[in-house]
Amino acid sequence: FVAITLCSVLLIGQATPVEDHVSYSGVQVWTITINSPEELRALSKMISHYGLEVWKEARSDNPKTDLLVPVQHQKELGLKLMEANINYVIKINDLQDVINNENLHTKASSSNTRAAHNMDWTSYHRLGDIYGYMSYLNATYPGLVSLINIGASYEKRPLYVLRISKSSRNGTKPAIWIDGGIHAREWISPAVTSYIIQQLVEVQANAKLLLNVDWYIMPVMNPDGYEFTHVSNRMWRKTRSLSSLSSCRGVDPNRNFGYKWGGLGTSTNPCSDIYKGTKAFSEPETLLTSNFILGKAKQIKLYLTIHSYGQSALVPWGYDVAYPSDYDDMLALANSAVSTFRKYKFSVGNSAALYYPAAGGSDDWAKSVGIKYSYTFELADSGTYGFLLPSSDILPVAKDFFPALDVFATKIATLK
Ligand code: ARG
Ligand code: ZN
Repeated sequence: FVAITLCSVLLIGQATPVEDHVSYSGVQVWTITINSPEELRALSKMISHYGLEVWKEARSDNPKTDLLVPVQHQKELGLKLMEANINYVIKINDLQDVINNENLHTKASSSNTRAAHNMDWTSYHRLGDIYGYMSYLNATYPGLVSLINIGASYEKRPLYVLRISKSSRNGTKPAIWIDGGIHAREWISPAVTSYIIQQLVEVQANAKLLLNVDWYIMPVMNPDGYEFTHVSNRMWRKTRSLSSLSSCRGVDPNRNFGYKWGGLGTSTNPCSDIYKGTKAFSEPETLLTSNFILGKAKQIKLYLTIHSYGQSALVPWGYDVAYPSDYDDMLALANSAVSTFRKYKFSVGNSAALYYPAAGGSDDWAKSVGIKYSYTFELADSGTYGFLLPSSDILPVAKDFFPALDVFATKIATLK
């Protein structure tokens, strides 16, 4: 079975130009199982005919495609699929219901004025809570933590990186970079990335992870998009930059990095969810992040970017099915990292082969500038809730993931 890219990722909220407060009432998520290239072709036609948004594409180890189906197409699409003998199940019956239930425990920002910060890992938090926690740590652990403002997003929010570095060898140990929140709607990513910060800084039992390695962690690379998913459109993926070509906003940050920019799996259409932008690093978020990493490229030995969903560890290259000369080293380390997971089963493999070719990704760029180990992790789940993982799953996902960092740190400590 060969995965073919089903690239019609136009946002459904697009029919109405009003972007603030998009409702997903009645919208369904269907999982479609493809059994032959003919079926895939038929499905691709239906997707472009109805302009459906693809959440997850069929891929080599899993012939299932997740699609967003708006109310007005549900009846007809169901009939067409039945006629074509294509198997489907309704995975989510009403997306707005799931959105409403996703974050039941959310605390209002600064609801508790006595607490030093508002962060926890039982609910998803607004940017202010995440940034508030980072500045709390900066103030509370001055010898260990430094909060670095690397510049501003398109909408002028600060872009923060937290450095965690123990002892006077500050900045001289090999380092691990971790980012989250490249894609706005993947809420589990900033949640897990901030959990990693909490574990490294505040849990004494994890001090061994700081002995031989420095950490640079950026929980929200795309803060404009992240805030937009909280106040306007839960399913937003991209940045929020204006286009001079179109009234559609935003660039896919993970198609905007400067390696093989504009290649396979990218779009020139500003309305597409995989829009590559007008040039490589057109977005302040990708430009500033890449420049910061470049400044530390000698020190950073491992680049980790956290996405959802799909439960996979993706190994470059992602721009096409192609393999770096040290691919076997990269694969071996990914496999031992994943072998620490107990609760969630992950697939490991070449990014383009396992998922689909997509050029301009941050992982490929990091690899291209000489960071030997570079990975994209797609966290839970595998499609039940997709991007709308209930907040009660944050801790299980985060706890299952954390031990992988020990494997990474141990490996990185041995590199010169
Ligand atoms: N789901 C991610 C995306 O579509 C996968 C990126 C993998 N990396 C790559 N360079 N294609 O952005
Ligand atoms: Zn993503």
